[in-house]
Amino acid sequence: MKRSYELVINGETRTVMSEPGRTLLEVLREDLGLTGTKYGCGEGQCGACTVLVDGRREHACKLAVEDVAGRSVLTIEGLGREGRLHPVQEAFLAEHAFQCGYCTPGMILATVALLQRHPRPTDAQIRQWLNGNLCRCCGYPRILRAVQRAAQ
Ligand code: FES
Repeated sequence: MKRSYELVINGETRTVMSEPGRTLLEVLREDLGLTGTKYGCGEGQCGACTVLVDGRREHACKLAVEDVAGRSVLTIEGLGREGRLHPVQEAFLAEHAFQCGYCTPGMILATVALLQRHPRPTDAQIRQWLNGNLCRCCGYPRILRAVQRAAQ
């Protein structure tokens, strides 16, 4: 049976009617039309569905809607401000750090979380942090440069 849940998505309180147990990823994409968050593996392994929940990196495919009720969710759509890209988005653009772009929203949100924790990360920290975000176009060197640029 469907229930009503209040979620705070990109700073806005949104009410959704959902069966319990549906994933945050399904709610974002199917109910709220926020398709920047991608479905890859559905098992918490690829990072394509990365969002920030209360500022922490999370896999939207592994969170049930009831787990995020009342919590603050940031998706790629909410990252820029006043029509401007976020500096991490600018850095990915400047370094051409994507090919197909499917992993990019997750990479960028993971990077935002990294830089909140380590504003000047070492290359080793970047590699370790992004270990859970897969890129099938093998764009890792450019992604590394983009994160380094964003940290400057
Ligand atoms: Fe969530 Fe792959 S779709 S980690």
